[in-house]
Amino acid sequence: IEETLVLVKPDGVQRGLTGEVLRRIETKGYSLVDIRLVHADRAILSAHYAEHEGKPFYEGLLEFMQSGPTVAIRVAGHRVIEGFRSLAGTTDPTTAAPGTIRGDLGRDWDAGVLLNIVHGSDSVESAQRELGIWFAA
Ligand code: GTP
Ligand code: MG
Repeated sequence: IEETLVLVKPDGVQRGLTGEVLRRIETKGYSLVDIRLVHADRAILSAHYAEHEGKPFYEGLLEFMQSGPTVAIRVAGHRVIEGFRSLAGTTDPTTAAPGTIRGDLGRDWDAGVLLNIVHGSDSVESAQRELGIWFAA
């Protein structure tokens, strides 16, 4: 069965949306395999966001992601990688479809940082890599 990494990012945790994100994952029928609260440091984040290094939003994103705790969730289910990204909606909450997490709950931008509540892995390879980072022993 496929697994993905979902993160409730610091904006979501701070706004008390962890339960709402978990509810959407569970009512969709996916299984929670593991969950932990992580106050991420730069080492975790630079590994997680390696593909974005050098982009204009990179430093702001890393700083924001260190601003408070993140909830990391290992989620399992049939085609869960694609399925969770569909539940999350497109990256920018302004244009994410109503009915999605970002479309319903996303609050847009703050000081150049895109506040979009959740992260979901985008491929089997990314999921394995990211689960290894956030659920390292
Ligand atoms: P994730 O599930 O978070 O990976 O979202 P995604 O796959 O839809 O987006 P992507 O991997 O391209 O970007 C990762 C994160 O970087 C996003 O969730 C945003 O927080 C941030 N980000 C992406 N693009 C931009 C951008 O153009 N501007 C800003 N400020 N942030 C961005
Ligand atoms: Mg991504």
